[in-house]
Amino acid sequence: MSTSRPIPRSQLGALVRELPKAEVHLHLEGCIPSPVWLAAAERHGMTCPLPLVDGRPEITSLQALLDHLDWACSLVDRAEDLRAIALATSQHLDRSGALHADVIFNPTHWPHWRERAAEMVGELSAGFDEAERAGGATVNLCWSLNRRQSEAEANDVVDWLLAERAERVVGLSIDGNEAAGSNNERFAGAFRRAADAGLRRCAHAGESSGPGGVWEAIELLGAERIDHGVRCVEEPALVRELARRRIPLDVCPTSNVVLGVAESIAAHPVEALRRAGVRVSVNTDDPELYGIELAGEYEACAAEFRWGARQLGEVARTSIEASFASEDRKAAMLERLESFLEATIGGT
Ligand code: ADE
Ligand code: ZN
Repeated sequence: MSTSRPIPRSQLGALVRELPKAEVHLHLEGCIPSPVWLAAAERHGMTCPLPLVDGRPEITSLQALLDHLDWACSLVDRAEDLRAIALATSQHLDRSGALHADVIFNPTHWPHWRERAAEMVGELSAGFDEAERAGGATVNLCWSLNRRQSEAEANDVVDWLLAERAERVVGLSIDGNEAAGSNNERFAGAFRRAADAGLRRCAHAGESSGPGGVWEAIELLGAERIDHGVRCVEEPALVRELARRRIPLDVCPTSNVVLGVAESIAAHPVEALRRAGVRVSVNTDDPELYGIELAGEYEACAAEFRWGARQLGEVARTSIEASFASEDRKAAMLERLESFLEATIGGT
């Protein structure tokens, strides 16, 4: 049993970068490097509807973010750009010492590819293959429904997933804005079919929905992990249930601050939830839009909440255990994590 003393600030940056971990809440759409969509916009003779700050669109709400994704992804019509986006996503992971990611992609953002999903997945896979061959993180994909889709559309997606059984696409997800309704009843059947067929399931909830959205994600969608989920903190009975059932929350601290879900990192509920026994991982959500790195999110939490070796190890362990990587891959990553903790900070 080691110390859980805070890590000195001078050592923290390097340590969190090297800490073996997985990223389980990361949108492909939020990993598009600005130069890729800016060049595509120029080709199409368009300019970004939002003001740019440091080369990034100024995003201040979830709806503005989703609208920007619709706009930026609609410009991407070349296979080579999909490969470049996959490579950029892998580089994002490698910069922060992430060994694996479950990357969410939502074809409703991509009009050029929506009816050509096999081609889209093929191009992305080729990019991830290249990065993996060069020693990069392993990457799975989760096809995400948009909450505005119909029940029939959701079932069509599951039909596609079951017919194609694309190697990399291991799960079904749902994202978007719940402000106009979560509509979980509408998606329950599709999620049940996905579960019956052995697909993994995660769902955005407890970001633009309150505790009710989290309950529904668990009970109606059978979500194995909750993307965000942090507004569960508003209902103590739900917090206890998440802890009791060991359902992990895929938390994105900076995203929550930028989109107004939390006032600041200091006021973010991740620490209260962790202390209440809820399994939490730390993630970036849409790193290119926020100009953040995964290691930076770990560093910000560790500095703010005085996380030491024990807490950092626990969050990294949750990220790996919660991932949809194969059992063999998880075992290998966990072994690397334990060796790292033992060697670097004396075990947990
Ligand atoms: N799609 C991309 N980022 C998202 C977020 N933070 N919430 C819901 N849907 C998203
Ligand atoms: Zn998200």
